[in-house]
Amino acid sequence: MTSLDTRSLLVHAPSDSDGEWWRHAVIYQVYPRSFADGSGDGVGDLPGVTSRLDHLAALGVDAVWLSPFYRSPQADAGYDVADYRDVDPLFGTLDDFDALLARAHGLGLRVVVDLVPNHTSDEHVWFRAAAASAPGSAERARYHFREGRGESGELPPNNWDSIFGGPAWTRVPDGQWYLHLFDSRQPDLNWEHPEVRAEFEDVLRFWLDRGVDGFRIDVAHGMVKAPGLPDWSGHVSMIDGSDGVDPLDRADEVTGSGNQGPMFDQDGVHDIYRAWNRVLAAYDGDRALVAEAWVEPLSRLARYVRPDEMQQAFNFAFLATPWHAPALREVIEASYATNDSVGAPTTWVMSNHDVVRHASRLGLSEPNARPNGIGRGDEQPDEQLGLRRARSASLLMLGLPGSAYLYQGEELGLPDHTDLPDDLRQDPAYFRTGGAERGRDGCRVPLPWEAGAPGLGFSPAGLTWLPQPASWTAYAADVQRGVPGSTYETYRAALVTRRADRLGTGGLTWDHTFGDDVIAFRNRDVLVVANLGSLPVALPEGAAVLLSSADLPGDGTLPADTTAWLRTR
Ligand code: GLC
Repeated sequence: MTSLDTRSLLVHAPSDSDGEWWRHAVIYQVYPRSFADGSGDGVGDLPGVTSRLDHLAALGVDAVWLSPFYRSPQADAGYDVADYRDVDPLFGTLDDFDALLARAHGLGLRVVVDLVPNHTSDEHVWFRAAAASAPGSAERARYHFREGRGESGELPPNNWDSIFGGPAWTRVPDGQWYLHLFDSRQPDLNWEHPEVRAEFEDVLRFWLDRGVDGFRIDVAHGMVKAPGLPDWSGHVSMIDGSDGVDPLDRADEVTGSGNQGPMFDQDGVHDIYRAWNRVLAAYDGDRALVAEAWVEPLSRLARYVRPDEMQQAFNFAFLATPWHAPALREVIEASYATNDSVGAPTTWVMSNHDVVRHASRLGLSEPNARPNGIGRGDEQPDEQLGLRRARSASLLMLGLPGSAYLYQGEELGLPDHTDLPDDLRQDPAYFRTGGAERGRDGCRVPLPWEAGAPGLGFSPAGLTWLPQPASWTAYAADVQRGVPGSTYETYRAALVTRRADRLGTGGLTWDHTFGDDVIAFRNRDVLVVANLGSLPVALPEGAAVLLSSADLPGDGTLPADTTAWLRTR
């Protein structure tokens, strides 16, 4: 782990100019089915999002990323796309999308949409045609259809597992099998096929022409598979959760974890992103691609953001690092070293729609452990401790130069729903693992807007597609707005300072004077101090406190599990 004395203190140099928006933007993830419901059916939709965009403008974020709202049978909550150029009636219409985009742009918010190129829905016109065609047909060539192994082809073509559990192959009535790294209703596309490549370049242009500012690329490390689809005995995972191994310790392992198998992170995938970079460049030079790529180590991830590929990649190594100052310092240093080496901005993220919210992870006995969902009978997080640490972690994150991602509701301090009845679960990962994984429903619960309204104001009719935990009344947006020290006002104040002080394009210089359990750094004129130890630490005399993640005692100390931003000039 980091030795405090021997490392250079300057980790990342500040920029004079702000550069492109995505180099420093705070991007807020909207999960449309759970953000706000305009129609009253209990499922969020695009008009609902539009009606609440003023909340995001007031919060002070720069951009919104919308999880999929395309036509889909919703076998994986919309990550199973049947038509990439239309809005599912559940979420509205293309006109609703245009209205959302216009309102967002009017409020100064950029809009990033989600692109799901690794697989389609089984209801996509291409897969329907493939299923109805003969083995060896042109229709089947767009997917990975193979003969099975065994005497009569009764065994899958190889030993790959689905990331959601069970085999990665499903058999069709004529005896062939098709590959699906996720659910059986999400067949993987064959990216060696020129029509597949052409189609997605066209889909990019369809949304670019409508005016979107960028794309989040789903499973960006998965599209190209090793030739011959060889057997592999390692472990595939999206979240790489629950084994408790520090991702940096695992980085050099050749097999086992880290998604280093023949289905992931193949060199050929980069040709696709070079082509997409050229598609975006034909617009105004202001559009961005962000990679969702669960690859390790960070030096492999940096390959996705080389100058002629994507603009950003999610930094899941940061999300997955234990709540331990030396480990976090190490991942922060490695993040800047690898991204700076290719001229890309570093990104930061703590929560999204695939992981237990950080307010819950940090309240576990092993803080920031990554269970694949939490349910009844599992260890329940300490909600107060989790919130305290989550606020501390978020202020640490927002003080770092680069671009930061927020997941809807974290600005309210929301915990997961950790005792959701299993019979209400909808995540295919829960069903495909026979319940061994609780899945991701707990972080996808409809947001609380008004403490006094039915369904906490999520839907005009009071309906919510998943029930909200009883404790969420205290987290509703309307009881936090204007209340000094509330989680919402703390995020808002942090974003005001971050913008005014240009922290996103600032630099990072360690300050090691506070000891091993404290992460302290200077970014322009702000000193960020996060105390991850168990004892209070003394703050520099005379420093003005700009912000803190919890009340300070007033004796010049910073308590445990607290972050403060200080003015150093
Ligand atoms: C990504 C999405 C996740 C989805 C999976 C399959 O990891 O974030 O929600 O289930 O891809 O599309």
